[in-house]
Amino acid sequence: MPEVVELPESNLFNVFNILLLENKHRLVKQLKECYEPNVHGHKTWASSFLLMDYFQTHNVLKRSSDVLELGCGWGAASIYCAKNGANSVTGLDIDENVFPYLNTQAALNGCKIKSMTKSYDKLSPKQLEKFNLIIGADICFWDDLAEMLEKMFQRAFKAGVKRIILADPGRQPFLDLAEKCNAFAKVDLREWYVCDPEYYDGYILDIKPGKATSSK
Ligand SMILES: C[S@@+](CC[C@H](N)C(=O)[O-])C[C@H]1O[C@@H](n2cnc3c(N)ncnc32)[C@H](O)[C@@H]1O
Repeated sequence: MPEVVELPESNLFNVFNILLLENKHRLVKQLKECYEPNVHGHKTWASSFLLMDYFQTHNVLKRSSDVLELGCGWGAASIYCAKNGANSVTGLDIDENVFPYLNTQAALNGCKIKSMTKSYDKLSPKQLEKFNLIIGADICFWDDLAEMLEKMFQRAFKAGVKRIILADPGRQPFLDLAEKCNAFAKVDLREWYVCDPEYYDGYILDIKPGKATSSK
C-alpha cells in the first residue's frame, strides 16, 4: 500500500510519490496568465497515471533508461521516470507553452527534465538515437497523429530505440496506431486500470522492434 504523505499546501496531489499541481493551484493560475497551452496541454491527463502503474508493475525503468516523453504536456510521466531511476529524461512537445508548467512541477519534485519543442514528425534519427525508451500518455487523438507516430516509431527502431510505451483512454486513432505497428514491430496492447489518484481505465501499448514470430 502507498505511504501516506502529508501535502505541504492545498491544491496539490500526490500520485505514485510525486507531487502534482491541481488546476486551481495558485501557481497554475499565475502561469495561465502568461502561458496558454493550445493543443490540449492544459492539465495533467489521466493516461499518465496508467503509465506510472504499468512502469511500476513491470519494473520498466532501469538506471540505463534514457527516456523521451512524447507530447509531455505538464510532464507528470517524465517526472515519475526521473524520480524512479531513469538515467536521463527529456520531454518533447510541439507547444512551448507547456514547459513552464512542466518545469514548475519538476522543481516541486526536485528533478530536472530536459525539454525539446518539436513535433513528432520532425524528430531525426540523430535525435532519436540518444534514447532507448520512448513513452507517451494520451498523445494519439487525431488520425494524422497516428500516421505521424507510426512513421516516427519506424525511424526510432531503426535508430536503436529498444521500447516504446504509450497509454491512452482508447481513442480510435490510438487503436488504429496499435494495429499499424503490427506490420513492423512486436506489439502488446492490453487494457489497464489504475486506482491512484482515483480509478481510471484505458490501454497500454508496449512495442519492441522486430516482427512477432508466428506460433504456427
Ligand atoms: C492530451 S495532451 C497529453 C499531455 C500529457 N502527455 C499528459 O498525459 O498529461 C497531448 C499533448 O501532446 C502535444 N502534442 C500534440 N500534437 C503534437 C505533435 N505533433 N508533436 C508533439 N507534441 C504534440 C500537445 O501539445 C499536448 O501537450
